[in-house]
Amino acid sequence: MTATSLDQIISLCKRRGFVFPGSEIYGGLQGIYDYGPLGVELKNNLIAEWWRANVYERDDMEGLDAAILMNRLVWKYSGHEETFNDPLVDCRTCKSRWRADHIHGRCPNCGSTDLTEPRPFNMMFSTQVGPVADSGALAYLRPETAQGIFVNFANVLATTSRKLPFGIAQVGKAFRNEINPRNFLFRVREFEQMEIEYFVMPGTDEAWHQQWLEDRLRWWDSVGVPRERITVYDVPPDELAHYSKRTYDLMYQYPDLGPQEIEGIANRTDYDLGSHSKDQASLNLTARVTPNADSTARLTYFDPERRHHVVPYVIEPSAGVGRGVLAVLCEAYAEEMTRALPAEKLQAVTDALTAFLKSVGRSEKLHPEARDAMLAYGEAIGNHLPERLPEVEPLLAMPGAETIELGKKLRGQAQPLIDEHFRTVLRLRPRLAPVKVAVFPLKRNHDAMVETARRIRRQLQLELGARTVYDDTGAIGKLYRRQDEIGTPWCITVDFDTLGEGKEPALTDTVTVRDRDSMAQERVPIANLPLYLREKLR
Ligand code: GAP
Repeated sequence: MTATSLDQIISLCKRRGFVFPGSEIYGGLQGIYDYGPLGVELKNNLIAEWWRANVYERDDMEGLDAAILMNRLVWKYSGHEETFNDPLVDCRTCKSRWRADHIHGRCPNCGSTDLTEPRPFNMMFSTQVGPVADSGALAYLRPETAQGIFVNFANVLATTSRKLPFGIAQVGKAFRNEINPRNFLFRVREFEQMEIEYFVMPGTDEAWHQQWLEDRLRWWDSVGVPRERITVYDVPPDELAHYSKRTYDLMYQYPDLGPQEIEGIANRTDYDLGSHSKDQASLNLTARVTPNADSTARLTYFDPERRHHVVPYVIEPSAGVGRGVLAVLCEAYAEEMTRALPAEKLQAVTDALTAFLKSVGRSEKLHPEARDAMLAYGEAIGNHLPERLPEVEPLLAMPGAETIELGKKLRGQAQPLIDEHFRTVLRLRPRLAPVKVAVFPLKRNHDAMVETARRIRRQLQLELGARTVYDDTGAIGKLYRRQDEIGTPWCITVDFDTLGEGKEPALTDTVTVRDRDSMAQERVPIANLPLYLREKLR
């Protein structure tokens, strides 16, 4: 099972500290999010997996970390100053602003069709470099990391002696002044990209494009986003970006949103290196570029076999980190019944849900859209009880739900059943899990048990080089559930047997290791733990 609604993920992220709205104590800032203690681990782990697969495990890649701020001319010749626009429309009735291609001629806020003609809106954030605010100080926050790679092409080539084909990988922040940021991490104004510019001999570009499509689908599969949940959209010519000859968009099936782009894989031809080169007339470029009188470099590659300079073509797999984190969370998320529900309790909660939905249907306080959304979601839950019982929580968190008095009764009926009979589990690939191992003492007021658990935690931290935690703030069952919910693959419990104080002397110096997915428990000698866990983490 995966997440059935985005609200489940949003609620988990907030509850457990994966993601917070940015600047929340001042009312937030639209389209900006902060990663919390668990989110930063998950995000870093996803990036590390990408870097490992694309840089360390290949023979044809180099890494780069270019600055966010670049000379304004980069954005002039990349084409972004002129073409990085979205069509903006104003609603004349309620004065809201929208992206024309997202709203089908009707204002989503008030329903009016009295809209202005679309006009281009450049999405680059501008700023000023230095203390004097004249036109020479204008700079942009980069809207893609790619340009940092193109303008360093000659530097990387000169310092690494690479031969074609080879690629440069980079992970970093990008900024876009999206007209309507929305859908949580999906469309934001500040985000991270994992980008590869892969330089190939012209003529081999189409084959490499296919190859990268396969490689990237395989990688998403390896981090828990299966191939069958991604459709490949062959972008039609009239939708292509200004630099692209052909682009495949990988469309992940996000809950509520349907198939949406998680990564684009573009054939950028010789457009970018050609655009940033001097002496363009001598380069036999195939792309149409703006004449460049400012560049000081010829961004070419000397082909030793044919003994002439060529401008390489570029294949660009470009993935969003936040969209990746969201997809990984959606795929890993499950709400599972761990024990069957007695029939009378199920009936009581069914009745409470029915009464709540009746009250929603009659409510005059609710906005009609909010009411319909709540009814549809509530009915879907009702049709799939008891499996979807835990979704009562996100249902009651929907806008306006707090105005329905019977919500309290529903929560009162549902919550104890959810607590007793269900668990939320994130079945993350162990390498992505924010916490790899949690260690608990069976009794928190037993000094030797606490000391042993803390020692095991420290030792595993050193041996595994990944986040491990100690926890003694609840009963073991509760601690297991807490770790399940954040995706910790293994929990270790130190008990009386570990200390030689139990009934089984043979278990001295062993601990219980509990597996997140199967919930099976195994007794493992403390001395074997590093090897045991390292094998599993591989
Ligand atoms: N260098 C090519 C490029 O930037 P893009 O399709 O505009 O291409 C690449 O962006 C990826 O960056 C997208 O597939 C998406 O994952 C991510 N992305 C783009 N805009 C985003 C936004 N506003 N919020 C979150 N992620 C975004």
